[in-house]
Amino acid sequence: MVARVQTEQDVAGMRVAGALAARVLEMIGEHVVPGITTGDLDRLCHEFIVGELDSIPAPLNYTNGNGPPFPRSICTSVNHVVCHGIPTERKQLKAGDIVNIDITVIKDGYFGDTSKMFFVGKPAPFAERLVRVTRECLFRGIDVVRPGARLGDIGHAIQTHAEANHFSVVREFCGHGIGRTFHDEPQILHYGRPGTGMTLEEGMTFTIEPMINAGARQVKILPDQWTVVTRDHKLSAQWEHTLLVTAQGAEILTLRNEERATAGAQV
Ligand code: MF3
Ligand code: CO
Ligand code: CO
Repeated sequence: MVARVQTEQDVAGMRVAGALAARVLEMIGEHVVPGITTGDLDRLCHEFIVGELDSIPAPLNYTNGNGPPFPRSICTSVNHVVCHGIPTERKQLKAGDIVNIDITVIKDGYFGDTSKMFFVGKPAPFAERLVRVTRECLFRGIDVVRPGARLGDIGHAIQTHAEANHFSVVREFCGHGIGRTFHDEPQILHYGRPGTGMTLEEGMTFTIEPMINAGARQVKILPDQWTVVTRDHKLSAQWEHTLLVTAQGAEILTLRNEERATAGAQV
């Protein structure tokens, strides 16, 4: 497996794209309320990305080679939807729902990719716990990142924390290298064995984006060929950041202001 090491110029471009993607998640939070549709959320994000940020929403018309292009500008994954939920006017959010909003922007050719869980109204304690543990999984993975660490160390840290909490790790989808390409090598698995896999080097950029299920890890894809759901229809959660490997550890390129005080001391 290969992984690109970014130039200083590339890193500068990635910092800009990452910061813009983070701003979209900051903007959309107040709109995630009972009664809004995921189609509304898509429209608000699209207009902000294009109009305010002068950027391109990467999901719109994105195709992974086979199957139909993704028809919207963001992914909205509600409750038992694991990832790649398609926004629609027919999906109205209701109190108690949990929803992942996944934003990828392209700015000057560079990609920034990040997602966050939102609560609609007041969450059930069980949903709140799944969302919290999934976020802890992301940051346990980030805490491992430094030159010399192995990819298996990241996966192992995530899997250990998820399973210690009696949750399961989705295996069919993973994090990815990112830069001037949306989905580059290497694949960042969210499970694994320590001391295995590629060795990280300063200047690599990739995402970590664990999908953690409340029940069994198995998933299926709906006939729209995008929407991924849990087979047992139990809840799933996901959080994602785009990262740069630095001499000291990791720089979170998609860090939001709300995370600034606590990042690095999350778990
Ligand atoms: N943003 C997703 C990721 O984290 C990919 C979405 S592809 C789409 O890799 F086409 F569904 F938008
Ligand atoms: Co991603
Ligand atoms: Co994403």
